[in-house]
Amino acid sequence: MTLQHIPVFLGEVLEALRCERPGLYVDCTVGAGGHAKGILTSSPENRLIGIDWDQEAIGIASENLKGFGARVTLVREDFSSLKTVLDELKIREVDGFLFDLGLSSVQLASKERGFSFQEDSPLDMRMDRRKEVMASDLINKLPARDLVRILKVYGEERWAGRIVSGILRERDKGPITMTRQLSTIVCSAIPHAYRAGRIHPATKTFQALRIAVNRELDQLDTAIKDAVGYLKTGGRICVISFHSLEDRIVKEVFRTLERGCTCPPRIPYCVCGFRKSITVLTRKPIRPSASEINNNPRARSAKLRVAERV
Ligand SMILES: C[S@@+](CC[C@H](N)C(=O)[O-])C[C@H]1O[C@@H](n2cnc3c(N)ncnc32)[C@H](O)[C@@H]1O
Repeated sequence: MTLQHIPVFLGEVLEALRCERPGLYVDCTVGAGGHAKGILTSSPENRLIGIDWDQEAIGIASENLKGFGARVTLVREDFSSLKTVLDELKIREVDGFLFDLGLSSVQLASKERGFSFQEDSPLDMRMDRRKEVMASDLINKLPARDLVRILKVYGEERWAGRIVSGILRERDKGPITMTRQLSTIVCSAIPHAYRAGRIHPATKTFQALRIAVNRELDQLDTAIKDAVGYLKTGGRICVISFHSLEDRIVKEVFRTLERGCTCPPRIPYCVCGFRKSITVLTRKPIRPSASEINNNPRARSAKLRVAERV
């Protein structure tokens, strides 16, 4: 298994967070610790709290960051519990937050975890293995209409209906338990003419199931709002997303936090009490350069949005 993960937008993130200014940074998705290492190296006084819900990621980050000693605190937790994590550590203010969403290359390459259709492994796909529901549970137990919705909404899969019919036929014979089995069902469900595209035919189905298993989009807006609540004035938040659903959530939360007051214009004074809490620094998301994509094809779909606490 590879323990390598090339951090996306590393230079842009370090610059946006102004990490050369000594401070406390929270990496809400520490993964293999690539961005974390960059943050800690930017100033010898920087401290970092790294959060990840995957025990294996915490183990790898701890190994990769051990040279920084007590400047690093790693916590295995869902970033939706950010408030609890920071309150338990008695942290009141933070200089910068990073969310680098989705899956790491380490998780993708892990043979037993079921994220990749390139390996034959049990259909698990849980990033946090304390959770009970695996991809095989969804595939074998959900009614057809729910599966279709998952593939359409989370995978933007145009052949969702055909793929789910294939799944239903197969699961009538016996449970679908392995990644290859699912990948074969998907490939045979997609019309011949569409199978030889730029991406593997099973990519969208695997993405959709992974998002559903991990409920990746459920708490993102709350976590970003919570993070902003801890930012010092002038502190910054960076969010890297890898598909349009995530990016849409980030864009909308940033817009809401920047707008503040939600009262209709006909009301002459504010009754809602919401105040503008950030200025968005990226009107359009930052996209990777050609050389970054060349060096790290995973960066292809990445978008970075940055905001500053007012
Ligand atoms: C793209 S990787 C981060 C890689 C990291 N920036 C680096 O440079 O090594 C995303 C990480 O976020 C974690 N993750 C995703 N959603 C999470 C959540 N809700 N709570 C905690 N960790 C999460 C995943 O387990 C994964 O390790």
